[in-house]
Amino acid sequence: MTDTHNVLVLNGPNLNMLGVREPKVYGSETLESIETSCQRIANRLDISVLFKQSNIEGTLVSWIQEARETQDAIIINAGAFTHTSIAILDALQLVEVPVIELHLSNIFAREEFRHHSYISPCATGVICGFGAAGYELALEATKRLLDN
Ligand code: DQA
Repeated sequence: MTDTHNVLVLNGPNLNMLGVREPKVYGSETLESIETSCQRIANRLDISVLFKQSNIEGTLVSWIQEARETQDAIIINAGAFTHTSIAILDALQLVEVPVIELHLSNIFAREEFRHHSYISPCATGVICGFGAAGYELALEATKRLLDN
């Protein structure tokens, strides 16, 4: 008997512009096509994915709070809020489900201000530098985490 796991995949500011935004850094896939791949992978892994994006910090905080009741894990690419947002850290800490931090680019190979993440202290794991494939890796890692 297996219960289907619910996983929230949350995307922060400017990720709606993937495809046109600095393709050398972030690749040429759009967020829409990443969502389509996530849904395909979710089917294969037998998990349910809720995929969301907002440019607004408070909206992300509210969605994280809501996840407390409905989701078994959160995969989050918080974009630039990664490096600035104590509010998102606080929300992730109160939600009490595993958090997987995700970045398309390798933030440690970039500007120094991207090396610090407010999210990492509450993340079970961090995936960065694999481009859009990172979403697939994060879903697979989350599935293993929830199955164990
Ligand atoms: C990002 C890295 C952040 O530093 C940046 O502000 C983003 C995207 C990434 O996916 O590589 O918006 O989170």
